[in-house]
Amino acid sequence: MNRLAGLATRASGAAILAVLSLGSASAHASEAALMPLPVSATVNAAEGQTLAITGRFVVRFEGFSDARLQRAVSRFQADINALTGAAPTSDGPALVIAVSADPAAGTLEAKEAYSLKVTEGGVHLTAAGQDGVLRGLATLRQLVQPQGAGFVLPYAQIEDSPRFPWRGLMVDTARHFVELDTLKRQIDAMERVKLNVLHFHFSDNEGFRIESLRYPRLTEISSHGQYYTQAQVRELVAYAADRGIRVVPELDVPAHTGAIMIAYPELKAAPFDETSRLAMFRAAVDPTKPETFAFIKGLLEEMIPLFPDAYFHVGGDEVAPTAWTANPDIVAYMAANGYEDTAALQDHFFRQVNEIVRSLGKTTMGWEEVAHLPIDDDVVVQAWRSSHIVGHITGQNNRAVVSAGYYLDLLWDGLDHYSRDPLDTAATLLDKPEEQVGPGPEVPLNDHQKALVLGAEAPLWSEAVTDEMVDHRFWPRAALLAERFWSPESVRDPVDAMRRAVPVQEALRIQGLEDLTRRQRMAARLAPHDAEAVEILSEVTVPVRNMGRLAEVFAAVRTGRPIRLPSFTAPVDIAGTDSLEIYRLSVWADAVAKGDAAAAGPLRTALQKYRDNHPRFVAAAQGVDSLEQAVPISEEVARLAVVGLEAIDLKTRGARPTAAWTENARALLAKQAQAAEASSSSAKILMGVPQPPALLLVGLTPVIDRLVSSVSPRP
Ligand code: ACM
Repeated sequence: MNRLAGLATRASGAAILAVLSLGSASAHASEAALMPLPVSATVNAAEGQTLAITGRFVVRFEGFSDARLQRAVSRFQADINALTGAAPTSDGPALVIAVSADPAAGTLEAKEAYSLKVTEGGVHLTAAGQDGVLRGLATLRQLVQPQGAGFVLPYAQIEDSPRFPWRGLMVDTARHFVELDTLKRQIDAMERVKLNVLHFHFSDNEGFRIESLRYPRLTEISSHGQYYTQAQVRELVAYAADRGIRVVPELDVPAHTGAIMIAYPELKAAPFDETSRLAMFRAAVDPTKPETFAFIKGLLEEMIPLFPDAYFHVGGDEVAPTAWTANPDIVAYMAANGYEDTAALQDHFFRQVNEIVRSLGKTTMGWEEVAHLPIDDDVVVQAWRSSHIVGHITGQNNRAVVSAGYYLDLLWDGLDHYSRDPLDTAATLLDKPEEQVGPGPEVPLNDHQKALVLGAEAPLWSEAVTDEMVDHRFWPRAALLAERFWSPESVRDPVDAMRRAVPVQEALRIQGLEDLTRRQRMAARLAPHDAEAVEILSEVTVPVRNMGRLAEVFAAVRTGRPIRLPSFTAPVDIAGTDSLEIYRLSVWADAVAKGDAAAAGPLRTALQKYRDNHPRFVAAAQGVDSLEQAVPISEEVARLAVVGLEAIDLKTRGARPTAAWTENARALLAKQAQAAEASSSSAKILMGVPQPPALLLVGLTPVIDRLVSSVSPRP
């Protein structure tokens, strides 16, 4: 239960895929796929213009080297082995790494620029700092490609540096605990696409996830046995640091503190029903009691030393005014101290917490609500509800990190996120009045304000994300966003981005990402006799958006029924937001529509597979509720596949469809458009607009639309 205020509206995914099919997207087997795209790159993979990977790279450092860089090289060699399928014992090409020692390595100020040269003589990587070496090695991994009997690096000349120094993912370990290994896998993938911040949300209403020795009830009562020991936290931070990734921890106060208040009830501002998620969502700690600040100080004294980063996040989001006004003592305190409203009281609270963080040697970060009233300039403010707040934050001279538009838990497709720029104050707007959205006009940022935007972060709130789903809910979208946050603003072509996203995702899998294997295991659990039938359906379906997965939960809230979370093992939890298979189909459909007969063969084969999957799926579904609920969707997929096949036949024969055929095809497409519309905003989910069966949308729809339009243009 949460984020009730995060009511973003969006275009449907169908619109984005329709854009996709407008471009040409030829993919060559031997084409390097770099993501993020470098600032400048000349890559030449022509015959005779490649460096063969004949053995282990023979690495020589010039200028500087240390143990961390040596470990980076070891990881690089291991990844090359994985990418080439060989673990050579003999020596291969030279890799010279020329680097100066950067005293700011591993911090926000780290030098990440690098240049890379691949010639017949070997590879030359030059960097002004250690982190630049990591970024250069990430690019070098992506240059590896098959050629002839083996693998090569194309001759290349690359100059590169990040657009923003803060490029993060946020992981929510409170709502669903995330295993340490899962976190490490995300960090591994982050390094490979040059993301450099892991925002570690470790405390919320649903749990407190770091072992506390000072406040043991946090661990005994509020972790439910699922927590990181302090040794594990140190291990995680060191693991990330090795990979050039800062861990920025978040202790969320004064709201989102249910787990803390259940363990230490004396801190709560007013009584609340601890068994009710909604009541907990509306509660907060008491901002008038010295004991509250003594507790926060004590807890921070214990937590802060675990995290070497200079920044510490103290939340500050979504404080319900009634959390405080329900207590007459707090209302009296406000009157006595001249706090006009709860926003002023929150400002008072935040100032004290900021002083504590500062006294412990850190710079404070908070969600945008902490900046509704002017705050100290050094505070870093994270924008989450809408983009125009970035104007307000930077207009007050605070530095900003942008998350509006990048909420991965809303299950938008990757290109939708990708299309939004962190510096665009109109990128993500809300259909809400200012008192719910926060102040600030949508005026463009001036240069001073732009310079205050440190970067962006993509959060994955985990109400509907179990440990098993973390890999496929982050990726491939995180790779697209890594490009948005690193590459020049001019890098925007969605067709080109998707073309590269396919091999980039495959490479991440080769190097250990488990998105696909975990989806397969989820399918096998439901359909042990024919898991493939479930996998095939999941290739061409996508989940409903904007918290639609929690439609039942919101219905319970509306009607006052007890909230029960589903188990997150259904087809909707297996389906990805960005089907790479659909991307491939859209490329073929575009080619067929343009009269390329060669694309008709593979597209036909694919559509036959989706058509023929239906009887298999029906058989597999028998007696399994979540699969039976998806049978109508499987049927829609089959019907759309049939329409697609008929359209290909018409197109290749140069024939016109009958009016009845067109009418039927358009009705099927319209039905899917309507299904997608039902989750086009969080407001619709909260209001209870009926969602499609099994909470699934047919991702195949825009592909079929393209084919139908090619034989029967819309009037
Ligand atoms: C938030 O999503 N409440 C920061």
